[in-house]
Amino acid sequence: MMLSEIEAAGWAALRQAAGDPQSGFRCVTLCTVDAEGAPQARMVVLRACDPARRTLDIHTDVRSPKWAELTAAPRVTVLGYCPQTRLQLRLIGTATLHGPDSPAAAAAWATLPPWTRSTYTGGPPGDERAFAGAAAPMPGAAEEGAGRACFGVIVVQATALDWFQLQRQDNRRARFSYGPEGALMAAVWVNP
Ligand SMILES: Cc1cc2nc3c(=O)[nH]c(=O)nc-3n(C[C@H](O)[C@H](O)[C@H](O)COP(=O)(O)O)c2cc1C
Repeated sequence: MMLSEIEAAGWAALRQAAGDPQSGFRCVTLCTVDAEGAPQARMVVLRACDPARRTLDIHTDVRSPKWAELTAAPRVTVLGYCPQTRLQLRLIGTATLHGPDSPAAAAAWATLPPWTRSTYTGGPPGDERAFAGAAAPMPGAAEEGAGRACFGVIVVQATALDWFQLQRQDNRRARFSYGPEGALMAAVWVNP
């Protein structure tokens, strides 16, 4: 396969994963840098992907530490591995934050089922919990409004992709870099 085909197939896999809970790339690791300069990593669900613009969408609670970290330092790495295809995708990029009042958050919220919305109605993520009781009941309209006010969308614009294919005896690796709108600027095979 040519480099351009490999790159396109990688993004096609990400796009497919955004709509398929069974996909290996459905959950990826979002890495940020905190206020002390320490790396922070956590799993997130890949919610949308635009292969032409090389962007990924992630949903989160704007009260979570990652939101504050990204506000201060928008550079990110998104790491994914698909065990079925044995492909690692390591995306380097910049995050843009779309807060609760943004059109992007409104549009994304409109697509969420009630049980997903309910995950935004609890206390601030990471705060100590008063008690570890049973799951809260499904929220009513008032609680759902409170959840909506905590809901944000992280859009990652990729600036580079490190592609790594595990293959018995013959691992392959390639690096791609992108312009501001996600245009493919350079592609090169590198030693694995
Ligand atoms: C499989 C899986 C998927 C997750 N998806 C998300 C997600 O899409 N958005 C999110 O904010 N947190 C998600 N989480 C929780 C995060 O990993 C993390 O624990 C939480 O967001 C707090 O992160 P922070 O303290 O770095 O902000 C997920 C956790 C797991 C295990």
